[in-house]
Amino acid sequence: MSEIELQNLSKSFGELDAVTDVSLSVRDGELLCLLGPSGCGKSTTMRMISGLETPSSGTVYIGDADVTDEPAYDRDTSMVFQNWALFPYKTVLENVAFGLKMRGMGKQQRRDRASEMLDRVHMDGYESHSPTDLSGGQKQRVALARSLAVDPDVLLLDEPLSNLDKRLREEMEIELKDIHEEFQKTFGLLPN
Ligand SMILES: Nc1ncnc2c1ncn2[C@@H]1O[C@H](COP(=O)(O)OP(=O)(O)O)[C@@H](O)[C@H]1O
Ligand SMILES: [Mg+2]
Repeated sequence: MSEIELQNLSKSFGELDAVTDVSLSVRDGELLCLLGPSGCGKSTTMRMISGLETPSSGTVYIGDADVTDEPAYDRDTSMVFQNWALFPYKTVLENVAFGLKMRGMGKQQRRDRASEMLDRVHMDGYESHSPTDLSGGQKQRVALARSLAVDPDVLLLDEPLSNLDKRLREEMEIELKDIHEEFQKTFGLLPN
């Protein structure tokens, strides 16, 4: 995982200042939570880190690189969206393999990788299902598997627990902590 650094980041939509002068840094392997009321600019900040939104001013660093003007597909980030954004006409496996296809991975290899990720989030057996048949918690797991599949340096999760009921929320919270620790270990990185 990379270190993220935001320097004096701002974003306006016309007259509306969505994010004003945010500076923060996230260390290698660190898990940072952005908290605040609805509309305070959390999603916009994440979207600027992932490259889905261009800052009005300020700088985004990932690792040592200034990525402010780099498009999303050139950044080693992956985002799990609040509403999951799964493709309804693709199977669960195709959803998870999608990012790998975009990155040019061969068919068998991406099926294997996608299956492995589905195992990891306890969704093995659902490969051929449609996402529309899944519960909120299951969709969340598939969206997470899709993001983990591309092995991003930075994983961004937008309110990953908000659409789940209390029991699932508690379960998912533990799961996310485990995955964070496991992937840290896998990459051999420790917070510095
Ligand atoms: N694409 C957009 N166009 C216009 N206004 C936007 C856009 N995206 C977000 N906003 C506005 O920016 C503010 C911050 O939104 P957002 O980052 O989604 O907040 P949060 O995620 O903290 O709820 C809100 O007032 C929202 O309406
Ligand atoms: Mg938001």
